Formats: sequence, C-alpha cells, structure tokens
Amino acid sequence: MVEPHSTTPPKPVADPASPASAPSFAAYPPDHVLRGIADRMDDGMLMFNVRGEVAMANRAVRELFGVTGEDAAGLGRRLEELLPPSAVSSATETGCWSGSLPLGERVVILQLYHHGEGREQAWLALFRHIDGQEDYEHELQRRHAELRQAYLRLNGAQEKLLQSEKMASIGQLAAGVAHEINNPIGYVHSNLGSLQEYLRSLFTVIEAYERALRAPDPKAMVAEIDDIRDRLDIDFISRDLPQLMAESREGIERVTRIVRDLKDFSYSGREESWKLADPHAGLDSTINIIWNELKYKVTLERRYGELPMIECLPSELNQVYMNMLLNAGHAIGERGNITVSTGAVGDEVWIEFKDDGAGISPELRQRIFDPFFTTKPVGSGTGLGLSISYGIINKHHGRIDVESTVGEGSRFRIVLPIRQPKG
Ligand SMILES: Nc1ncnc2c1ncn2[C@@H]1O[C@H](COP(=O)(O)OP(=O)(O)OP(=O)(O)O)[C@@H](O)[C@H]1O
Ligand SMILES: [Mg+2]
Repeated sequence: MVEPHSTTPPKPVADPASPASAPSFAAYPPDHVLRGIADRMDDGMLMFNVRGEVAMANRAVRELFGVTGEDAAGLGRRLEELLPPSAVSSATETGCWSGSLPLGERVVILQLYHHGEGREQAWLALFRHIDGQEDYEHELQRRHAELRQAYLRLNGAQEKLLQSEKMASIGQLAAGVAHEINNPIGYVHSNLGSLQEYLRSLFTVIEAYERALRAPDPKAMVAEIDDIRDRLDIDFISRDLPQLMAESREGIERVTRIVRDLKDFSYSGREESWKLADPHAGLDSTINIIWNELKYKVTLERRYGELPMIECLPSELNQVYMNMLLNAGHAIGERGNITVSTGAVGDEVWIEFKDDGAGISPELRQRIFDPFFTTKPVGSGTGLGLSISYGIINKHHGRIDVESTVGEGSRFRIVLPIRQPKG
C-alpha cells in the first residue's frame, strides 16, 4: 500500500503525558515564555479575556500605564474602562480598530483586535507611543496649513479655469451670436422702412378724406379717393400692417432673448448662488445661443419630460449643456441628429444628449474626461469641455454616464439630484 503524501510538520517536543496521535500542547510556548517575548516588545500589549479582564500586560504597557510589578492584574481595570467604548464596540464588530488615544500627557496610537465569539473571545490591544510629541504635532500642523494653502490655491485656479473656458467658448460663439442678432435686426430694419412707406400712403389718404370733408360736395370726391386708395394699395397695407408689426415685435423679442441668454450664460461662477431652476429653461436658452453653430447640419429634437425645479447653479449647468451640444455637433460630419431628452425618476432628474455622429472607441472612452484630452485639431479644442463638465456635475452631486458606438453615435446622460444633500 502506498502511503498518502504529506508534508512533514516541525517535530513537536515529545510530551509523555499525551497519546502519540493527539496534538501535543506542550509544544506550544508555555505562558512564561509568551510573557517573556511580549516583555521584549517596544510596543505595549494588552490581552483581554472573555470577561474583558486583563489577561496579559507586557512591560511596555505597564510602563505606559505607570504600574509596577509583574502582575497583569496590576492594571486592575477592565477593557471598557481602559479603552474608549466606541473603539471596543467597533473592534468587536469588525475585528479591528485603530486610532489615537490620549494617555496622560501623551498621545498613543492604538490598534485593537478582536477574535472569537460566545465564551471564546479575546481582545488584543497594541499601543505605540510617539516620541517628541510636540514636534510631531508641530509637523502635523505645518503640513495641514500647507495642504490648506495648496487646496485654496487649487480651488482658485480651478475657478479661473472654469471662467476662462467659459469665456473662450463665448468668444468662439460670439460670431454666431452676432449673426443670430443681426438676422432679426435686419428684418426689423427693413420692416421699419416699409412702415414708413405705409405711413406716407396712409397720410395721403387721410389728407384726401380731409379735403373731401371740407369740400361743398364731398360725394363728388369719392371717385378720386377710391382712385388714390387703389393707387396706394391701401387694402394691401391694412392687411400687411398687423403682420409687419407682429414680425418686428418677434424680432425684437428674439434679440432681447439672445441678450438675456448670453447674460445668464456669462454669469460668473464666483457670484452665482444655488437656486431652484427649471432645467428646460437652461437647455432652451443654451440651444438658442449655440443654434447658429448647429443649424446648418443638425436636426435637433427635444423630448422633454415633466421636470421639477432643481437646486443648482444654473449658469454652470448651462455650460455643461453647451459642451454636450457642441461636442455632439462636432461629432456629426455632414448632417445628423441630436436628441435632447429629459425625465425624472425618484429624487433625481436626467438629461440626455444623443447624437448619431462619429462615436467614441472604447480606448478613447477611458480618456475623454481627462483635462486637455482632445481629438480635435490644434487650436480648435482645448480638451477641457468634458473635464469641466464632470467637475460641475460632481459639484451638483450628480453623475455623467456615457454610451457610445463607433459609427453609430454617442449618448451622454447626466443625472442630477432634485435637492442638494444638506451641508
Ligand atoms: N458626442 C461625442 N461624440 C464623439 N466624440 C466625443 C463626443 N463628446 C466628446 N467626444 C470626444 O471627447 C474629446 C474630449 O471632449 P471635450 O469636450 O473634453 O474636449 P473638446 O471638445 O475636444 O475641446 P473643448 O470642449 O475644450 O473645446 C473630444 O475631443 C472628442 O474626441
Ligand atoms: Mg468639447
């Protein structure tokens, strides 16, 4: 018969009292050896039994607690009296706890471990005290101040970056916006020209009527007046006038709207405060501003759901919408579609920008949110759009999900909480 293969365990010291087959407990270090080893440690070590009584306290811990004598019971107190109850309950629950603990004049680092259950439980506490406590605290404070400075500087720089990216985008769009404004101004101007003509004709007719009123026989002048009316096409004027006025009013309103949208848009991030705003209003005004960039190649569809007002920084969200829409537009070559859909689920709203443009490959997909990552030619993209958008959405405690297939298009979905978490 072949013996089963086994690795040989280290040979235990023979214990004549135990049968050969049972494990030999005498092979385990006896208590005084364990204590001897523990006393050699620089770190303090306290062992507690199931009742929370001190079962072993090494030399370092006796010194730390200022007790003399070999006896562990010299420490006298129980687990909960010696260590913070929160540390004990946390270690009992999760297996270990670590933190710092004031001990007289000193602060010690404590690691507390727990194992077992029922009648078979124990806790082991390891203490390490820090030399030169004052220096340590000084150093900590100095680093804290340094970090804080760096944080404030970074924050300031980020805000500047945000503002300058916004201004750069506005600069890029300025030509388009000027065109958008020029268009209605153009036809309001030409309408005013027609209006001047019409007024002249109307005054001519009024004059003719006045003359007739003063004439001895007004009826004799009817034919003349009809003639003037026909010549000046007064019937056409009276039909055209209301339309002309409506058109001009609409033109002026469009200009007013564009100017207002631009003002909303360029609102400095620094001054803006959190407010309740309608995401659809932000989307619409952003679409208005950039429409000139898209209108020649994009068919835009809005599939708006019912949305509540959300707590947000409206002009920063507008900047996100603008980035999404411009990116979608850039991804479309000759002609294509962009769909902006919205909806609300539970305590969140979602806003989705879908395009049927070039799409993004999985490798690039990893990098699109990196600052300065761009696939656009030098000079036409800074590569900051998505990283800034990500920052803004993060600040709103929201998220951006992306799905994209090369050759089919992309879908950027923004999810935002309706109310910002307290504090
Ligand atoms: N809808 C999209 N379809 C295809 N690719 C996209 C889309 N949106 C973003 N990308 C890719 O992600 C890259 C990074 O986008 P991001 O908006 O950060 O910068 P950018 O558009 O290149 O430059 P900027 O926005 O600063 O002008 C783009 O260069 C493009 O390759
Ligand atoms: Mg972009």
